[in-house]
Amino acid sequence: MTAARSEHTCVFGLGWGDEGKGKIVDLLCPGFDVVARFNGGANAGHTVCVGDEKFALHLLPSGVLHEAATSVVGHGVVVDPLAILSEIDALAARGIDVMGRLRISDRAHLVMPYHKIEDKLGEKAAGESGKIGTTARGIGPCYADKMRRTTAIRFADLLFNDDLPTKVRKIVDNRKKYFAAVYGEDGGLDAAEVLDELATARDRLGPCVCDTSELLHGAIGGGRAILFEGANGLLLDVDHGTYPFVTSSSTGPHGIGPGAGVPASRVTRLIGVTKAYATRVGSGPFVSELKDEVGNRIRVQGHEFGTTTGRPRRCGWFDTVANRYTARLSGATDVALMHLDTLSGFERVGYCVAYEIDGKRVDTPPADAGQLEKAMPVFEFMPGWQENLRTVRRFEDLPPTALAYVERIETLIGAPVTLAGVGPDRSQTLVRGPLADVIAVPEPTAAAPSS
Ligand code: GDP
Ligand code: IMO
Ligand code: MG
Repeated sequence: MTAARSEHTCVFGLGWGDEGKGKIVDLLCPGFDVVARFNGGANAGHTVCVGDEKFALHLLPSGVLHEAATSVVGHGVVVDPLAILSEIDALAARGIDVMGRLRISDRAHLVMPYHKIEDKLGEKAAGESGKIGTTARGIGPCYADKMRRTTAIRFADLLFNDDLPTKVRKIVDNRKKYFAAVYGEDGGLDAAEVLDELATARDRLGPCVCDTSELLHGAIGGGRAILFEGANGLLLDVDHGTYPFVTSSSTGPHGIGPGAGVPASRVTRLIGVTKAYATRVGSGPFVSELKDEVGNRIRVQGHEFGTTTGRPRRCGWFDTVANRYTARLSGATDVALMHLDTLSGFERVGYCVAYEIDGKRVDTPPADAGQLEKAMPVFEFMPGWQENLRTVRRFEDLPPTALAYVERIETLIGAPVTLAGVGPDRSQTLVRGPLADVIAVPEPTAAAPSS
């Protein structure tokens, strides 16, 4: 069985990232002809487990392991050329050649060495209390240049702008002065090295660069199916997330228009991915966080350490206030509730049903980070389950307490949970409802972790 060809789909995060989007994209891939990223950059770390092999993808779409699909990096993505090249080379070393089926938008912006330097220097200067806790991949400074316009560099510049070396020398010169004045060091920037990097990018990535919006519209016109892969998560969205502790892009389906050049109305299935509990990396408010033994236990059982930076993820109970908000603003038609297996063994499982701010009960996240920081979680609890879920293959075979938990979450967030994760392997996924007709979950391999 394959996915209905006409239904263009978006997979995106409902939380603060790392929900398991890579796994869902990989699972859906056989039904799609094109997989397209539309936002973020190398801040993303999407894990795909195939048998006993594990792939961590940062800039390449998670569909890249499927030879039949074209992989598109849309113009809303900020591309670090060295990072994408090292990903391409690492896959080639494992026998996977992606060059022939990778297309990068000529309108995509390049993350330059000075963006990464600025990211690091800015965070260091902000100190523990003021920093965002970024991934240090230059994401914010690159998007800032994109909005500033005059100091931005796109792939089209690499190919067509004869004045690029002059422009780059000027930018580098100005950044050195700025860094020295503001941070007391010039960051060790060298214009010749920056230009060398750009030359490598042009030579090696140039053949992949094209008008990807045209490509996507051609695919749509030809009846081919597109899978859009969101990076990060809606609670990190620059407009809707826990600002300013967010990333710098539009992380949900609303990012498809600006980031891929396809009207969002074309994309009719919207799969919001979330976890059976909550995690966050970096700074910022996290109302349902558990800074105790329960939080530690979730971290250990769920192996909650960052795919991109290796940082331990902060853990807490599921937040129905935050997920209801992101499910509603994205219009999620389906919710994938991952890591149900991770909660096995808890006597009771909790979920946050409201916030209390200055003694007042609130059921939607306030805009102000200070208000959110003050919010106290109102938790409810249900009996947990002791069974190992890793070998469960159907929703109806879940222990009754686990199924009751899924149904409670579904009711509280107001969107149907049609997918659930019971382990990292492709085979460890439950599907129900109309999606069950279009996703073929593979049989487990001997390597699928059973405990
Ligand atoms: P993404 O950024 O949303 O793609 O998520 P990450 O790859 O950063 O983090 C998700 C982690 O959870 C990865 O290590 C996945 O292999 C793993 N994972 C995904 N789904 C499940 C699940 O249902 N159960 C368990 N135990 N692990 C899962
Ligand atoms: P995936 O796609 C988890 C977080 C960072 C930091 C904030 C800003 O793997 O789910 P940035 O480097 O973007 O300026 O950092 O956003 N962040 C993520 N957290 N998963 C991600 O991506 C993230 N991308 C950004 O930790 O708090
Ligand atoms: Mg991740």
